[in-house]
Amino acid sequence: LRSVKSFEEILKQGEFSQPDLVRMLKAEGADRTALFSAAAARKEAVVGKKVYFRGLVEFSNVCSKDCLYCGIRQSNSKVVRYEAADEDILAACRFAWENRFGSVVLQSGELSSSTFINRVDQLLRQIKALSKGELGITLSCGEQSRETYQRWFNSGAHRYLLRIESSNPELYGKIHPNNAHHSFEKRLECLQLLKECGYQVGTGVMIGLPFQTMDDLANDLLFLKQIDIDMVGMGPYIEHEDTPLYAYRHLITSKQERFDLALRMVAALRLLMPDINIAAATALQAIDPAGREKAVKIGANIIMPNLTPSAFRKDYQLYEDKPCLDEDADQCRNCLEARIELAGSEIGYGEWGDSNHFSRRQ
Ligand code: 5AD
Ligand code: FES
Repeated sequence: LRSVKSFEEILKQGEFSQPDLVRMLKAEGADRTALFSAAAARKEAVVGKKVYFRGLVEFSNVCSKDCLYCGIRQSNSKVVRYEAADEDILAACRFAWENRFGSVVLQSGELSSSTFINRVDQLLRQIKALSKGELGITLSCGEQSRETYQRWFNSGAHRYLLRIESSNPELYGKIHPNNAHHSFEKRLECLQLLKECGYQVGTGVMIGLPFQTMDDLANDLLFLKQIDIDMVGMGPYIEHEDTPLYAYRHLITSKQERFDLALRMVAALRLLMPDINIAAATALQAIDPAGREKAVKIGANIIMPNLTPSAFRKDYQLYEDKPCLDEDADQCRNCLEARIELAGSEIGYGEWGDSNHFSRRQ
């Protein structure tokens, strides 16, 4: 007779099977509390109390893709398209540097024109120059060729975020249009290319999607481990009225349940990959005003304050209720600082805050 492991025994293990992870994702009551305290303890022991800031600059919402869940998909004609001016982008980066944020994240819709590629390249050089090389630069500009990734790396980007969205190819197929422009294999290949170019690579998934199961999510966690990722950003899926996936909203759980599932994903990932950087996703804050701070308490160590010029924020609505639409950068920073302190953490000012995982991989 095989003895059944208790939940406490599972949490103490150094390795976790798929069924172990499913149990964590379903944990309730005392088990849920035990999961969160185990993850919090592991975080403090391995990555410490510091939380790093990455100033997020959503510099353009023009996108050539049509992801079925995303508010800025090309076919959404209700979106007012913008491209922030260089000087506004640089001013946001200067703010990040002067306020001693470790780094900035330049994010945009996905484009592959040479105009776009050249523009990003120019921006990278200008940001490096204005911050005397001090500001770390992360890009989040979608799928590109090896040449483009290499060129941007050579111009100063050293991290790249590209979510796999779901590691289950079948589910990926359900939430993206069925054409070559939205291929799961291409996405995987890009993650590999990024690694080969020398980037610290971040990926992640959406949590609580229609058609998604607990098995899928446990497999997502194992996928992150298997590809040996350096950074993860993952948050709840939030429906957007002007997208095709909205028609399947009867298949999703309540926002509160998606939020709680996302917290359990973060905690389980901290136990599975103790030394990586885990971002507290902005989507958490769209559901609960203190959502990101809650994630920091149970495993996350990165926060991305929004530095997008205020005039454009309302046009970068990937999902409903995206927070901080009316704030300017100063307000965001102040409110965050206070909240992080509440969560018993310290802010890692003036440091890049690379993950120990990446350093070890070198
Ligand atoms: N809900 C939650 N996250 C979303 N993203 C895009 N649309 C949504 C949505 N409706 C996430 C995707 C993408 C990241 C930039 O934003 O995971 O990779
Ligand atoms: Fe723009 Fe998915 S809709 S990348």
